[in-house]
Amino acid sequence: MAHLQQSAIFTPGVVESIQHKAQTGLYEMRGFGTLRQRRWATFDDLTFLPCSLTRIPLEGYREKCSTKTLLGTRYAKKPIELDIPVMITGMSWGALSYNAKVALAKGAAAAGSSNTTGDGGMLQAERENSRTLIYEVLPSRYGINIHHMRMADAIELTIGQGAKPGTGGLLLGSKVSNRIAEQRDLPIGVDQRSPARHPDMLGPDDMIIKVEELREATDWQVPIFIKIGASRVFDDVKLAAKAGADVIVVDGMEGGTGASPSIFQEHTGIPTLGAVCEARLALEDCGLYGEVQLIIAGGIRDGVDAAKAIALGADAVYIGTAALIGLNCNKPLYLEDYEALGTAPYACHHCHTGRCPVGITTQDPELMQRLDIDAGAERIQNLLHAMTLEIQMLARSCGKSDVHHLEPEDMAALTMEASAICGIPLAGTRKVFGR
Ligand SMILES: Cc1cc2nc3c(=O)[nH]c(=O)nc-3n(C[C@H](O)[C@H](O)[C@H](O)COP(=O)(O)O)c2cc1C
Ligand code: SF4
Repeated sequence: MAHLQQSAIFTPGVVESIQHKAQTGLYEMRGFGTLRQRRWATFDDLTFLPCSLTRIPLEGYREKCSTKTLLGTRYAKKPIELDIPVMITGMSWGALSYNAKVALAKGAAAAGSSNTTGDGGMLQAERENSRTLIYEVLPSRYGINIHHMRMADAIELTIGQGAKPGTGGLLLGSKVSNRIAEQRDLPIGVDQRSPARHPDMLGPDDMIIKVEELREATDWQVPIFIKIGASRVFDDVKLAAKAGADVIVVDGMEGGTGASPSIFQEHTGIPTLGAVCEARLALEDCGLYGEVQLIIAGGIRDGVDAAKAIALGADAVYIGTAALIGLNCNKPLYLEDYEALGTAPYACHHCHTGRCPVGITTQDPELMQRLDIDAGAERIQNLLHAMTLEIQMLARSCGKSDVHHLEPEDMAALTMEASAICGIPLAGTRKVFGR
């Protein structure tokens, strides 16, 4: 009946959001990352082209397919060597519970991979349980400590994140517990907003000095990563490479977060698929593709997404949200606690509240106990292992003895957008659209 039809512009969600702003005078803040309620091209718009007659596949059980991943070969005396190309991204102790941080470190180490600190600095237990630890240097400088930095296997200078490029972090007061307040030198229970930019960097030239400073601080031993939120990727990657980065991390629009304004998660930055393609073009343009390694992050869910990112030019991928899901995020347990948050399993994005029903994004001692460190670590190890098997399986089917040999030619585009973005022919044609 026409008189009951809902507006496609003022949908129930839009109506609710306008009324919430009218009632509170506040914009919406939440965790998790984009809910992607409109379409854009993603890794799902690509498909692999395994061997048939033109190429020969490798036998799964007899022929090796290497997953070794080398990062930081440009200047560092000690580049990082990982067993697999899937790494755990930087997530702050503050956004995450102690148990979650330690479980991630332990699980990543058992799988032969790395984990990363976050806004708020390093935990001793995190270092002790890591095999390869990447230490983030963020604009906030919360918890930053030169001694901890020197204990790390790589330094990541974070300029921005995909979920909130061009703005700073947020930790609601409910998560600023005694321990977090002490680590960050903040008052207990007060909302904390971290700065949008490094106080000592007003432009790309300052970044050159900053990278040099981090190298001096770590005696040129460990790789220096530069992490950017994907917006003007082509120019930003070239500037980061020029500043002397060994490794560049590009975090796309689908990137997860502990808390950020929802408009940033939905309406800023560019999607991960476009980000990896632009980043590769930028490195090729300055003759540094292969010399500066590329890590891609933002919405990577499984070995398929990871394999596609690698085929498009990434050396490795970071996972954040997928790792938290591996720790039981959004699992149907403790249903009454999801309900108390006004949500339900599979629809939860309430990390900012500090009341995570499964003990991951909370500082509440009782909730945190719901995440057992050893059981969580085992799930992370399993997840990383299974994702690596998926990447290997796809690589072998494309005839590759090393997952890093995957290339754009191993794929076809399923949509014209993906063809134009990736420079890959549309399936069923021999055409690259837009070229
Ligand atoms: C709970 C949570 C906390 C995060 N904290 C940080 C942080 O402290 N520093 C940072 O650079 N990025 C942080 N991020 C962003 C991740 O490092 C990464 O860029 C993003 O999660 C990648 O996207 P994915 O979650 O879809 O894998 C956080 C993400 C999540 C989910
Ligand atoms: S279950 Fe916990 S970690 Fe997952 S979205 Fe909800 S609050 Fe965040």
